[in-house]
Amino acid sequence: MRIALLGGTGDLGNGLALRLAAYTNHDVVIGSRDPDAAHDAADAYQATLSERGRDVKVTGFENAMAADRADVVVLAVPPYAVTDVVDAVASGLHADDVLVAPAAGMRRDDDGFRAHLPSAGSVTALVADAAPDDVGVVGAFHSIPAGRLADLDADLGIDTLLVGDDDRAKRVVSGIVDDVDGLRALDAGGLANAAEVESLTPLLLNVARENDGMRDVGVSFR
Ligand SMILES: NC(=O)c1ccc[n+]([C@@H]2O[C@H](COP(=O)([O-])OP(=O)(O)OC[C@H]3O[C@@H](n4cnc5c(N)ncnc54)[C@H](OP(=O)(O)O)[C@@H]3O)[C@@H](O)[C@H]2O)c1
Repeated sequence: MRIALLGGTGDLGNGLALRLAAYTNHDVVIGSRDPDAAHDAADAYQATLSERGRDVKVTGFENAMAADRADVVVLAVPPYAVTDVVDAVASGLHADDVLVAPAAGMRRDDDGFRAHLPSAGSVTALVADAAPDDVGVVGAFHSIPAGRLADLDADLGIDTLLVGDDDRAKRVVSGIVDDVDGLRALDAGGLANAAEVESLTPLLLNVARENDGMRDVGVSFR
């Protein structure tokens, strides 16, 4: 499967690109608003992987071209940008493509991080509203720390919750997640449950902030 990471120049894009390219057979395509930045990031990820003896091709394109080349498109961009980015790449999305939303709506004050959800109810719902009807939308990866993903020596041992109304799209994302050693996908229900899933992220960031050694904290459900 070909997976485009839009905003793949950022922290989550870095972590996902390295993990997916290092430990699965999926093709990774980096997207950016700036094609040069996409090429540079793709080259840098490829070099990191090559140093570890994994010779795989990582390519980079402007976001719409990256989406056009992919079956699964991850919106690794800030929450406030998701609607604009979906609009910008919509012409490159094809029937049965899967759009993945990892963004959690939150804000920060002096005491920590709080859930700050858009009027649509969740960022995943914003993405579902903006996406073409024949594209499946799944909320995923909200609570997976980018730093731990990018440290290829780190054991993951963490879960990611999937939310969305399209069961086929959830199966596709679940398959990709489960291809990464140490990651597990759990179904958290339909789109109506996305706010609860996104609200886990500020909770984890508060735990990380208040406790030594918890910098890249994730969760595992037992
Ligand atoms: N960091 C984490 O540990 C983590 C974990 C789970 C989920 N997430 C979620 O994943 C998403 C990405 O997180 P991140 O930490 O990687 O964010 P980030 O580094 O701040 O941004 C990622 C990329 O988004 C693009 N971008 C920034 N502003 C934009 C705008 N106004 N319009 C379009 N694109 C824009 C940039 O790429 P270009 O300039 O190259 O276009 C940037 O490199 C966020 O929604 C976050 O909530 C993050």
